Amino acid sequence: MGAFADHLDEVADRLTVALDALLPRGDGAEGRLFSAMRYAALAGGKRMRPFLTITAGRMFDADERALLRAACAIECIHTYSLIHDDLPCMDDDDMRRGQPTVHRAYDEATAVLAGDALLTLAFEILADPKTSPEPDIRVALVAGLARASGGQGMVGGQAIDMAGRQIADDLSAIARMQRLKTGALISFSTEAGGIIGGATDEERQALSRYSHDLGLAYQIADDLLDATGDADAVGKAVGKDADRGKASFVALLGVEPARERVAMLASQAKGHLGIFGEKAALLSQAVDFVLDRES
Ligand code: IPE
Ligand code: IPE
Ligand code: MG
Ligand code: MG
Ligand code: MG
Repeated sequence: MGAFADHLDEVADRLTVALDALLPRGDGAEGRLFSAMRYAALAGGKRMRPFLTITAGRMFDADERALLRAACAIECIHTYSLIHDDLPCMDDDDMRRGQPTVHRAYDEATAVLAGDALLTLAFEILADPKTSPEPDIRVALVAGLARASGGQGMVGGQAIDMAGRQIADDLSAIARMQRLKTGALISFSTEAGGIIGGATDEERQALSRYSHDLGLAYQIADDLLDATGDADAVGKAVGKDADRGKASFVALLGVEPARERVAMLASQAKGHLGIFGEKAALLSQAVDFVLDRES
């Protein structure tokens, strides 16, 4: 686990430095908006999605600057999704990444706008030739991120989550919701490394299968942390999903069966890495991290 933890730290540090440079700053009339964007995006977080982009891309010797910029774009989308997820009209949460949520530290309008601006910044970053001199690669990244984060991806999953009581007894509907709200962006994070690195169709297929299983496991692990985790360790409130009537594997099946699902998905995810051999050691360890995570 040592090499993995070091690598995750390395990615997190580089990501935060790069995001700091990409995020707007200023004390003009929009200063409060910029400050809120920076507050949310630079506050930490595990940076798991950037880790997947960079680690997958390195398997194909992809350009490091391209990987880092794509990872920043993905983390902007993820951060925006968290800001909006925490709003009073959604999950109504007060703590995120160990600090007050954006609408608590600023105000609701600023939180909505900071999310909007992070969402659009993501595409500005990807569309810039600095991300890749190849227009085809830029377009593939823009289209892939749009699909993963829009109505047929993360936002669609969030919409189902908000209407969760309707699917509370339907395991396959819950799995679909989880794959959309969390899995789609995790999948794209991994696939982006393959796009930038010029992976073959077969390699991209394997990455896609790997991240499909990993993404679902990641959200079930998050639901388990809500049910059994420690608020200080996870940096957000726990024990709220049940009160809110959230549909989840944990609510429907219970804690132990949900854990078993995560373990099964984890072993399936690792199985898809076979074609990469030793090169995929870090992606394989990422699966163990998701299995064992306490934050
Ligand atoms: C939290 O994501 C919300 C989910 C989609 C499960 P993370 O657990 O990756 O949050 P950070 O980025 O580390 O704060
Ligand atoms: C959020 O799922 C998924 C997103 C797309 C943001 P949760 O609502 O379970 O995430 P947390 O627990 O608030 O981080
Ligand atoms: Mg939510
Ligand atoms: Mg939430
Ligand atoms: Mg949660």
